[in-house]
Amino acid sequence: MQVNAKNYHTIWVHSENKQIVRVIDQRKLPFEFEVVDLYTAADAFEAIRNMTVRGAPLIGVTGAYGIYLGLIGATDLNWRTELLTFAEYLKSARPTAVNLAILIDEMVELLSVCSSRELAYDRALEEADRMKLREIAWSEAIGDFGCELIAEISKRKDDKPVNILTHCNAGWLACIDWGTATAPMYKAFQKQIPIHVWVDETRPRNQGARLTAWELSQEGIPHTVIPDNAGGHLMQHGLVDLCIVGSDRTTSTGDVANKIGTYLKALAAYDNKIPFYVALPSSSIDFTMKDGIKEIPIEQRDTDEVCWMEGQLENGKIGKVRIINEKSPVTNFGFDVTPAKYVTALITERGICKANEEDILNLFPEMRGKINSYTD
Ligand code: MRU
Repeated sequence: MQVNAKNYHTIWVHSENKQIVRVIDQRKLPFEFEVVDLYTAADAFEAIRNMTVRGAPLIGVTGAYGIYLGLIGATDLNWRTELLTFAEYLKSARPTAVNLAILIDEMVELLSVCSSRELAYDRALEEADRMKLREIAWSEAIGDFGCELIAEISKRKDDKPVNILTHCNAGWLACIDWGTATAPMYKAFQKQIPIHVWVDETRPRNQGARLTAWELSQEGIPHTVIPDNAGGHLMQHGLVDLCIVGSDRTTSTGDVANKIGTYLKALAAYDNKIPFYVALPSSSIDFTMKDGIKEIPIEQRDTDEVCWMEGQLENGKIGKVRIINEKSPVTNFGFDVTPAKYVTALITERGICKANEEDILNLFPEMRGKINSYTD
């Protein structure tokens, strides 16, 4: 997508030195646009952990490139053991987005057939590139399917703008291109379907206010940033036609873990009979889990993210101010789980389905065996 009218992906291999992987530093947006170079698996781990890169699909693809970077530094003799060690290490960078574990496990399996470190290293780059392109294709397909939903509502509204509410950043920054929740918006905008997006600011890190709003403004899409607690009011007053959010991990039964606060929006949407869609690639579906609330690991982050607010200071520099007194205890859960019953439908790369096991498996029949093997 566009940054100052130039097309970017969120991750790419350096054009002059293929041993360097480049990413956009999302901690600095929207105030500064900086590219960071990753040289080692440890760099990839740190970029995921400190949220230089974030968003489930991008975390997964960064993990895949992390495996590649790890193989550059591995020894010819012990590369197989080292590969398994840094695979586990990379997987531990963040716990909730399942894409990280899924893509790293896929990499490890694909590389297990290689007979030398050098062959594994070449193959790792090929596979990481393939996974990246696959995520782009999946996001675009999600965009096409989701756009049909927006088009239908637009027709019913006699082409008045369709108001879409979204939470956090499930945009191209969170993926490689297009985004998941934002892909239908970009597709609708390209087809000149009038839309307007309500962007939840998404405390404490403000991914909505800082990232989604920036993305949409780069593409020229009409939008308004709202405080997190405004969505219910807007819904009660007929100002939201549908919600579209992303997912960090969706169970085989359709429970959805996404950025903290998503569940409250789903409840408000349910109460107001507003469709609540979750847009996600299959790399965010955990076919080994059935009960999202009981089973999905929820990341707890540093309480400084709640105590301090980061932004642009009057002198133009990025800075922080403390907003909570030093004695009050604080907690910082990164995600919550929206039970399937509040999800109108899932928008995936293979089509739209109800958030239940049967309908999900009808779209992904090859996963039936996996589910049964975990149920037994
Ligand atoms: O903590 P973050 O910024 O990584 O959380 C991101 C989200 O919650 C996104 O909605 C989710 O990863 C889906 S991204 C397409």
